[in-house]
Amino acid sequence: MNVGILFSRVRVEEKLLLEAFEGLGVPTTRIDEREIAARVGAYRPEVDVLLERSISATAGLVALQLFEAAGIPTINTYHTSAVCADKIRTTLALSRAGVPQPQTEIAFSPEAALEAIERLGYPVVLKPPIGSWGRLLARIHDRDAAEAIIEHKEVLGGINHHIYYVQEYIQKPGRDIRAFVVGTTCIAAIYRQSPHWITNTARGGQASNCPVTDELAELCRRAALAVSDGAGGILAIDVLEAPGRGLLVCEVNHTMEFRNSIAPTGVDIPRRMAEYVLSVAEMAR
Ligand SMILES: Nc1ncnc2c1ncn2[C@@H]1O[C@H](COP(=O)(O)OP(=O)(O)O)[C@@H](O)[C@H]1O
Ligand SMILES: [Mg+2]
Repeated sequence: MNVGILFSRVRVEEKLLLEAFEGLGVPTTRIDEREIAARVGAYRPEVDVLLERSISATAGLVALQLFEAAGIPTINTYHTSAVCADKIRTTLALSRAGVPQPQTEIAFSPEAALEAIERLGYPVVLKPPIGSWGRLLARIHDRDAAEAIIEHKEVLGGINHHIYYVQEYIQKPGRDIRAFVVGTTCIAAIYRQSPHWITNTARGGQASNCPVTDELAELCRRAALAVSDGAGGILAIDVLEAPGRGLLVCEVNHTMEFRNSIAPTGVDIPRRMAEYVLSVAEMAR
């Protein structure tokens, strides 16, 4: 058994994963995506399974297709990763499966976006359909701000910013929940507390343990099944506590960071990930 780990930069997470595989006595091959030049039809990487850990969602998605074309099982699959990399696809998959999420509208023009915003009612959140780490999110409180942000996106933004992902703002209690899923099981969760409405740890949100209640575990299971077409995977699910409505899925991430979550939860997240990767490889044999 040889585990391939695709990376663009070896972060703390990748170091911890390499150690976890070592702890399990499993050899790993590091695959630096910058070194890939693949002859189509003849690319045969010498690994039994691929764990995709690229920082670039675009590069990760291309690599997953190459590895799958070579018959190598991947975590996550290309399908799951493509759904999670795109908030529109995620929202549609969750909706199809009846998983609770904030009300969302997709609009195709500045005029339609403004109408969607006013229909949802202020405050609303505008998100780039493809993006992470809380970048370029906007919470909008009135029509003046809505018009200004839409005009900026229209004039200054690339094509990705000309489709508008508009979401109701959830009055969450100064925090959200980041839940870690392996397979379809929620193995741990943290609260991300922040004075800012964007609670990503990359933006200063503070991690503390969040108990995995039955409600959270069930929501995560359903969300994982929805984005993976039933396969499951290694996923991080952002969850919002909506007053009077229970838990809502905000988004699903397919190459999660977890360095700040091991100590507060007491769960050996990299080891659980490594064990899952091995189980996927075994099943594919
Ligand atoms: N509809 C919403 N209502 C309230 N807070 C939100 C909403 N959407 C996002 N947030 C906050 O912004 C953070 C980042 O949003 P998210 O959709 O996860 O984008 P990213 O991919 O950049 O992490 C969330 O973790 C949450 O704190
Ligand atoms: Mg997020």
